[in-house]
Parts: sequence; C-alpha cells; structure tokens
Amino acid sequence: MNAKRLMGAAAATVLALGLAACSGEGAGTTTSDATDDTSAPVAEDVRIGVAMPTQTSERWIADGAAVESGLQELGYEVDLQFANDDIPTQTQQIDQMITNGADVLIIAAIDGTALSAQLQNAADKGIKVIAYDRLIRESANVDFYVTFDNFQVGVQQATSLLVGLGILNQDGSEGDATGPFNVELFAGSLDDNNAFFFFNGAMDVLQPYLDDGTLVVPSGQLDIEQAAILRWQQETAQRRMEDLLTANYSGDLQVDGVLSPYDGLSRGIITALQNAGYPATVADGFPVVTGQDAEIASVKLIADDVQFATIFKDTRKLAAQAVTATEEFLTGGEPTANDTETYENGVKIVPSYLLESDIVYADNIQSLLVDSGYWSAEEVASGVAE
Ligand code: BGC
Repeated sequence: MNAKRLMGAAAATVLALGLAACSGEGAGTTTSDATDDTSAPVAEDVRIGVAMPTQTSERWIADGAAVESGLQELGYEVDLQFANDDIPTQTQQIDQMITNGADVLIIAAIDGTALSAQLQNAADKGIKVIAYDRLIRESANVDFYVTFDNFQVGVQQATSLLVGLGILNQDGSEGDATGPFNVELFAGSLDDNNAFFFFNGAMDVLQPYLDDGTLVVPSGQLDIEQAAILRWQQETAQRRMEDLLTANYSGDLQVDGVLSPYDGLSRGIITALQNAGYPATVADGFPVVTGQDAEIASVKLIADDVQFATIFKDTRKLAAQAVTATEEFLTGGEPTANDTETYENGVKIVPSYLLESDIVYADNIQSLLVDSGYWSAEEVASGVAE
C-alpha cells in the first residue's frame, strides 16, 4: 500500500493556525512576547513523536505511513520510529522523542507495561500521550486511546471459524454442520493487552460449542497462556502447530479448524498444515484457519481458498483518528471518546475511540478491500503490496 493512498480522511482536517493552547514544553511551544502575533506557535514548530512496534508486519508500516502523512499535511514535524519488536529500542526511541521536544506522543507499544518511566517523564513535561491500537498499561499518564473494538474482533474471528466449519452461515443463521470438529486455539503476545481482548471475545463465542461437544480441542490447550505466541511471531506459531500435530494428531485424527488471531500467525499455521499433507484447499478439506489484519499475502490465500477468513481493520481510519486526537490536544481541547468504560489500564480507565472491523471472506474481498482502495485487484492477484 503506498503512503499517499493511505491518507484521506485526516487530510481533510483543517489546520487551525496559532496553536496557542499547545500544552507541551517542546519545540512547539513559544513562550515569548504576547504582543507579537507572529510569536504564536506555527505548525512547523510542532513535533509529534510516533512510536511503532515493528516493520515485520505490513500493518504497522501502513499505520506509521498514514499517521506520518496525516500529521505532515497539517504542517507538523513528525519523528516516526519503528523498534524491531525490541522493548529497550522502543523505550530509547521514546526517551529521544521527549529529549527532541515532542509536543504529543503517539505510541503503539510492544510491551504495554514497559513504558511507565517514559510516560512519567512525558507527563512532567506536559506532553500528551495517545496510545495507538494497543493500550499502554500501568500508567496514569495515558491521555487517550485510539483503537478498534478489540473484543468484537475476537467475536468476529470465532464467528468466521464457525462459518468455515459450516456451524453458522455468513448471515449468522445456523448452518447444517453439527460436528464434532477438532479445533486448536492460538492467541497473540501476552504483553499486548489486545491479545486478551481477542481471545476473550473469541472464547465468548466458542465456549457454548465446546461445552456441548460440537467443538473439541484434542490438545486440551484451552488457556490463553498455552495458546499465546510471544511477539506474534510467525515462526513460533508454525512450530507450535507442528508440535500440536505431532503430539495430538496421530492416526486418522484430523484438524478441522484453527483459531488464529493474526495473519502472520495464520501463515505459519498454514505452512505447518501444508507440510503435514492436508489437502490444498478448504473446499477439499484443508482446515479452516482464521486471521486478522487483511495482510496482502493472506488476502491472496483467502482468494485461493487456503486461508478461510481474516478481519479487516482499516488502518487509514485509525490513523485519521490519531491525527484528529493530536490536533484536539494541540488546540487545547480533549479528543472525543466513544468509550469511557472498557479500557482500564491497571491505574485508570483510558478514554477511548473505538472503530469497527469487518470479516473478510473470499466473496467480499472485492467490496471490502478493493472497492475501498485498501488493496488493488492486482495486489490481491499477486499477493504482494505494490
Ligand atoms: C493488533 C493486531 C495485530 C497484532 C500483531 C495487535 O496489537 O491489534 O492488528 O495483528 O497486534 O501485530
């Protein structure tokens, strides 16, 4: 996805000149001479630090590019950093952003509990902090949170698993299949607050089917601690799937479905299943594998009937929300929240703006992803971002 295409909504936001109410003590704040109108801070003097976790997943690259271009269109200076999924690298980057005079920080944390010292430092300097997509925990100094309805993402992941197995139809009505079906469960990284929301949302849907025997987990690994994949690593997911197959699927026992919370993990799981000799397509009996993020390689796998579904979270909209919240802070206001109950971070409830997500199946790739300009038809066909 190219950076220019990513921004749209945020670019429409009009820059209010004279950010007099800017609360930071960084480069964006001018302290001089109230009689001189030209002393009011101008957009170029405002610096925004944007800390993203990694470039190994294309969603974070897209998020970073979209936030950066949205802020730049408002005339702000942007310091965008990626941290290779390494906690010390991310804390160092945020320290540096503060030293360099950031006025607002937008942070997608690697470990949601590792940033308390940085955030205290930011608060002491009057720098507003926006948690991006992932909640920052155990700190009072998180001013706003922009994200998706993460519990609902988990609900959608489990729903797509049930649809793939034929237990439900896409319209939510009951399907013909009755099971029992053998499924295995995967979860995200335990240092990412979202992993719990996804897993809890999914289990909320799956539990009744586990209770009545429609779904069976032959490994018995039902807890998030057993299902978790540290740092959302594809290779770790592939290894865990291989181990599950070796330990639990001897003889005729087959896996029918796998709950996977992220496309990178899904591709690792799919590789393990392919190496174990499962049929090529879902139509032929390949297990139903779910996902998240609508990564282009996975969208192609869905089009090819290998992965069954993914969850589309439009990162362009999330970036636009982060830009809007930044602007609201800089002009002395408070960003508008649409949820003030759900995201308790261990110290306080962080006011949040939640966006909606969609389930992507083979038959709505066109309407959800291509028609909206998220991926082109050529990218879907090749499985490679242009
Ligand atoms: C995000 C997901 C993403 C995962 C792995 C989560 O915090 O919400 O969209 O798949 O991290 O990067």
